[in-house]
Amino acid sequence: MNLGVIASNRGTNLQAIVDACREKRLDAKVSVAISNNSKSLAILRARKAGIPAFHISEKTHPSPLDLDQAILNILNTHDVDFVVLAGYLKHMGKKTLLAFPKKVINIHPSLLPSYGGKGMYGRKIHEAVLKNRDTETGITIHYVDDGYDTGEIISQLRIPIDSSDSVTSLTNRILKQEHEFLIATLNCLISKERSCRNTV
Ligand code: GRF
Repeated sequence: MNLGVIASNRGTNLQAIVDACREKRLDAKVSVAISNNSKSLAILRARKAGIPAFHISEKTHPSPLDLDQAILNILNTHDVDFVVLAGYLKHMGKKTLLAFPKKVINIHPSLLPSYGGKGMYGRKIHEAVLKNRDTETGITIHYVDDGYDTGEIISQLRIPIDSSDSVTSLTNRILKQEHEFLIATLNCLISKERSCRNTV
């Protein structure tokens, strides 16, 4: 299984995938990484691991159609079978989604459909969860469609919230669990199990 990983910033989920492949906890290979941010840690992490990494954004391709085509070309050139959006803050183009039906997934740090949609990312999610005094939060992995965080849900991990939790503690705890949950879900998808909902 050749993976294409697309990320915008830190790239810790990309790193988790790279490490799991190297340590043979995941029977796959990251064959290419793409970022819309030329200065992202994600690009540095990929290159450090010897993975080809490309900066593709509205800066390199001002037309959305060209941008979509450029991403698709890179995925095809690197024989990608499956695409992981690991902290990619942009929309995927229609052409790429059509070329990879049910083969593009996204990880999101909330129990979707709650706390999803445009502008709901990072600390903003955890701030909203705490403001609403929710008693649990979690992680969702879903197929990507042309909306924001709206695709079919593949797996979810529920995470209890402690009364002492702050935005920072929640952010750190969830991110750590994302790394394990993403690998568990990818393993489930690779093994073609019928349902990955109870992956952990
Ligand atoms: C993660 O919380 C992921 O769920 C969300 O964006 C964040 C990316 O973190 N989509 P990182 O870049 O992998 O560290």
